[in-house]
Amino acid sequence: MEPYIKDILSSEYEGKTVILKGFINSIRKGKNNVFLILRDPTGLLQCVSNSQEEPFQEASRVTRESSVEVEGSIRKDERAIGGYELHLKRIKIIGLSEPFPLKKGHSKVFLFDNRHLWLRSPRVTAIMKIRSTVFEAIHTFFISNGFYEIQSPSFVGGSVEGGSTLFEVDYFGKKAYLTQSWQLYAEAMVDSLWKIYTVAPSFRAERSKTWRHLTEFWHAEAEMAFVDNTGIMDVEEKLIKSIVKAVLDKNSGELDLLKRDRKILENTVNKPFLRMKYEEIIDLANKNGLKLEYGADLGSDEERVITSKLDVPVFSINYPTKLKPFYHKPDPNDPSHVLCNDLLAPEGYGEIIGAGQRVDDKDTLIKRIKEDGLNVKDYEWYIDLRRYGAIPHSGFGLGVDRLVMWICKLPHIMYAVPFPRTMRRLLP
Ligand code: 4AD
Ligand code: MG
Repeated sequence: MEPYIKDILSSEYEGKTVILKGFINSIRKGKNNVFLILRDPTGLLQCVSNSQEEPFQEASRVTRESSVEVEGSIRKDERAIGGYELHLKRIKIIGLSEPFPLKKGHSKVFLFDNRHLWLRSPRVTAIMKIRSTVFEAIHTFFISNGFYEIQSPSFVGGSVEGGSTLFEVDYFGKKAYLTQSWQLYAEAMVDSLWKIYTVAPSFRAERSKTWRHLTEFWHAEAEMAFVDNTGIMDVEEKLIKSIVKAVLDKNSGELDLLKRDRKILENTVNKPFLRMKYEEIIDLANKNGLKLEYGADLGSDEERVITSKLDVPVFSINYPTKLKPFYHKPDPNDPSHVLCNDLLAPEGYGEIIGAGQRVDDKDTLIKRIKEDGLNVKDYEWYIDLRRYGAIPHSGFGLGVDRLVMWICKLPHIMYAVPFPRTMRRLLP
């Protein structure tokens, strides 16, 4: 393997001749020199050619975003990015670029219209590297803690998270939907495997145009047998800590490039998360200037206010039953509330996990399905799980794109996704 730019930025390579491939990030032409900034997945490197030298003519012909192969010797230069530069001996143009449409100062819409090209920018590349670490850390956490990875279908016959965000598909003349969550299937699979997880896309026909809603998002979900609402919170907390730690360990350069302040990420790894009952969360919101009543639902705007001054994530626990879907277990000591938890990220980001303990009693489940206005017939197989050996069990769903948005402190969830899908965006 030929080296990457990051590898050759060391005294070990000084004076040596290397061959590198990459894209031309920018070009500066002097009277006697041409400076080409080469870019690969690991960084930038200044390549220089003098007008007296052989590669000068070809180097002068190169355009921004052309792909090239360069050969040259490495020398120390304090003024160059990374502290080293490459003195060109040879340059081969692999693909000469037409005038590149992206320049500084474009609107967000224009940039997302050109997402296929914008992905090359160092900033977007840094976000995608962090995203990769997040996915890797999720798998590592679950596998190393004895979970089985298992999948559920994407075509489903009914809703989990309410009918208003279902995507309808024509399934050979019948109505089918794209899944909103693996949860109901997980509750069947958990009976045999006891500790399970999946990482897969979920779909929501979100009409609300907020900074945190996609129509297709990546969902890391887990389900555990014989675990209650408190037990599942402990697992969520450990998962988030291990993901954030992985990013801090592995993506220091990327966090620097994004100018991401580390303090709150470090707190997330080192400090216990806050745990507050729903009513305490409402009180906190009202202390911060909102005027919410007990029973009010919390959306993007409310959670922004609630979490903007926090310096560590907070669990918001035991919501009123009427705010949550049918599958949440009512608290035996107070059935007007359910045994659930939402994990809210600090710095204004709000909900990144939805979680809780599941109804394990058949009659309560049927009652709750009816109260949600759903057809009991569509859920017979799910009710069976309470007929034939019910167990206490709990689970959660982590919105991975939201987590990446927060870790990178991005202004909108679209920036966290390679090709985001929203109500208004299907291309590219
Ligand atoms: O809170 P939600 O709706 O919970 C469930 O789907 C449960 N069935 C999960 C489970 O217990 N297995 O969604 C879980 C998380 C949210 O906290 C949020 O982070 C993310 O999924 N999410 C979205 N992310 C981006 N765009 C959307 N439209 C999202 N909807 C939910
Ligand atoms: Mg939720």
